[in-house]
Amino acid sequence: MDREELILVTGATGFLGTQLVRELLDRQPHAHLALLIRDRPGQPGSERAGAIVPAPDRPRIQVYSGDVSLPRCGLDGSTYENLSAQVTRVVHCAATVRFDHSLQDARQINVEGTRRVLDFASGARQLRGFAYVGTAYVAGERTGLVRESELAVGQSYRNTYEQTKAEAEALVRARLASLPGVVLRPSIVVGDSRTGFTSSFKMMYWPLKIYARRLWRTVPGYPDAVLDIVPVDFVAASIAQLLFDEAAFGCAVHLCAGPRGSATIQQIAHRAAEYFQAPEPRYVDPKLFFAALRPLLLAALWGRKRRVLRDGRAYRDYFTMRMQFDTSNAERLLAPAGLHPPPVLDYLDRLFHYCVASDWGRRPVAVP
Ligand SMILES: NC(=O)c1ccc[n+]([C@@H]2O[C@H](COP(=O)([O-])OP(=O)(O)OC[C@H]3O[C@@H](n4cnc5c(N)ncnc54)[C@H](OP(=O)(O)O)[C@@H]3O)[C@@H](O)[C@H]2O)c1
Repeated sequence: MDREELILVTGATGFLGTQLVRELLDRQPHAHLALLIRDRPGQPGSERAGAIVPAPDRPRIQVYSGDVSLPRCGLDGSTYENLSAQVTRVVHCAATVRFDHSLQDARQINVEGTRRVLDFASGARQLRGFAYVGTAYVAGERTGLVRESELAVGQSYRNTYEQTKAEAEALVRARLASLPGVVLRPSIVVGDSRTGFTSSFKMMYWPLKIYARRLWRTVPGYPDAVLDIVPVDFVAASIAQLLFDEAAFGCAVHLCAGPRGSATIQQIAHRAAEYFQAPEPRYVDPKLFFAALRPLLLAALWGRKRRVLRDGRAYRDYFTMRMQFDTSNAERLLAPAGLHPPPVLDYLDRLFHYCVASDWGRRPVAVP
């Protein structure tokens, strides 16, 4: 669109960030991207960028080795100043998405990292747009309809991820009076709705895998619990769209399937039973399961089933959620651009198919 655009992206090496980088390169054919990437032992950020940016687009990429948990995001003074003088837009996507970090460790990346990126954006003289990638699950343990304007309403949080993302979003909201920015809140991001492709087999995929492999059939949850799932192509396209939409600035936007497009655990499980030709799951009251059945089973089981029981604890909350995300802002801002979250049940089979074709991420699959 504009030859002078330089878009800083954090979190570019992640599941969502990789797709976002491609989306920005496609939608903004004249823009250049500055990617802030952490070095890994023996693998500098520049090498890591090579893996996510197709060769023809590499001349449009500048890579900065950095870390949002460090002062000045790990950049030296003159690099920081030069970048700040040139950047026109910022997308802050980097975060730790682990549920088991200590509060201190999660805050260091999610809260202090966001504060540093906000400070950077506030000092960028040519800044035209800022997008913060949050999560709809800042709603924590709420039930009922969650509105995009709401953040802290006295809810409690299930883990340090939700809590620190809520704290970070509060920082962003406090700056929106002086910064042309938007808060984007995806729900559970899954693979591409057109191809099923995913590079991340966390979240919904783990329970699905153990079920498809006949390792577990009992769901400690409610059949009518709601799973709000959105495909990564919709989320990346929406971020790339709203980063350039002044009408979105000052708002929070749920990038979610919403009440119309989400599905219940039972609907998803029924589809999975059909697809994987497995018996329908059994549902057990979660309170009973975790208070009485699980301790007994832990004592009685061994090997793979015991590991499944132990690892499955991290997913318990997905089976009990009774909250829906209102998507009024999303519909108002995204529908005119032709962006609609596809209903979960419309593309679920493609996700299943990719899981099987790729042997749950172990086998490379050619994706169109
Ligand atoms: N996936 C979902 O279902 C979902 C749902 C709602 C919201 N979100 C949000 O979407 C964003 C991306 O999530 P994701 O699923 O793509 O996670 P991911 O695959 O784990 O990617 C996280 C990204 O953040 C980077 N990062 C982490 N700590 C950093 C630090 N200290 N300095 C610089 N970069 C750092 C990672 O870099 P390395 O490669 O070096 O680790 C990686 O590029 C997050 O803000 C998350 O809260 C995700």
